[in-house]
Amino acid sequence: MTDPVVDARDVTYRHPDGTVAVDGASLRVDPGTRVALLGANGAGKSTLLQLLGGLHDPDEGSVRWFGDRDVDTVRDRLAVLLQDADDYLFNPTVREDLEYGPRQLRLSTAEIDDRVTELAARFDLEHLLDRPPFRLSGGEKRRAAFAAALSTEPEVLLLDEPVSHLDAQNRRRILDALDDLAADGVTTVVATPDPDLVPAVADRVCLLGPDGRVVADGTPREVLTDRERLRTAGLRPPTLVRLFDDLDGVDGDDVPVSMPEAETTLRALLDDG
Ligand SMILES: Nc1ncnc2c1ncn2[C@@H]1O[C@H](COP(=O)(O)OP(=O)(O)OP(=O)(O)O)[C@@H](O)[C@H]1O
Ligand SMILES: [Mg+2]
Repeated sequence: MTDPVVDARDVTYRHPDGTVAVDGASLRVDPGTRVALLGANGAGKSTLLQLLGGLHDPDEGSVRWFGDRDVDTVRDRLAVLLQDADDYLFNPTVREDLEYGPRQLRLSTAEIDDRVTELAARFDLEHLLDRPPFRLSGGEKRRAAFAAALSTEPEVLLLDEPVSHLDAQNRRRILDALDDLAADGVTTVVATPDPDLVPAVADRVCLLGPDGRVVADGTPREVLTDRERLRTAGLRPPTLVRLFDDLDGVDGDDVPVSMPEAETTLRALLDDG
């Protein structure tokens, strides 16, 4: 059996004021998989993601990386994109934020320049490279932070709401980049409160209940059609599930959860009609 890239066991985390944000959560992430952490606001997604990224130590339970290693020995193999892009962009210019990770890896100046040029082109940041990050729009900051997270070419990317507040074109850019990463075998964990996003970014979903516990762990189909469990987690099923639930002619278990599935279902319905 291959070693998990991250293995969290019975993890509990209390914020300094005593708030229990994650309560006995277990999650094993295998290499090359795409996992979504789904939960309502305040469910504990960001806290769990930071535990998985080794940014906090759990109060109880353990988190280990790449087969029982300590995070300090593997930090350059992980990247964590925090929910607030401001926490990620701390250099005087966007260019320096993109150079920061590769510099830590001691790449040559030519290699660093190549990476920055490539990332800037891919995420439409060329015209922003010499600006201080605090003079960017919210969506521009998210793009810059995403590019910075990719700059070290990590094996595991932990992303907190990577497409929130993005317009359609920039959302597509990030989703395409996530597809490319998956094709390259990079492991991704995406935290989101949006069930509609899950099929586009994950093959497996871990649902967090309102009290920081993992209440479901399965395929997008299993979790996103479990209407009752989503409700108790404070969420609604994806738009497609709700739409097809309202239509006659589709069995509740066969309801589409993704756009490609919806297309197939609709074609079948139209052909029957
Ligand atoms: N710094 C903090 N100090 C105290 N409590 C905190 C802190 N940060 C978060 N919390 C609490 O921990 C719980 C989980 O918060 P967390 O940010 O992990 O949730 P989330 O699922 O990411 O929510 P959102 O969808 O709003 O981003 C919440 O009850 C929140 O109020
Ligand atoms: Mg959050």
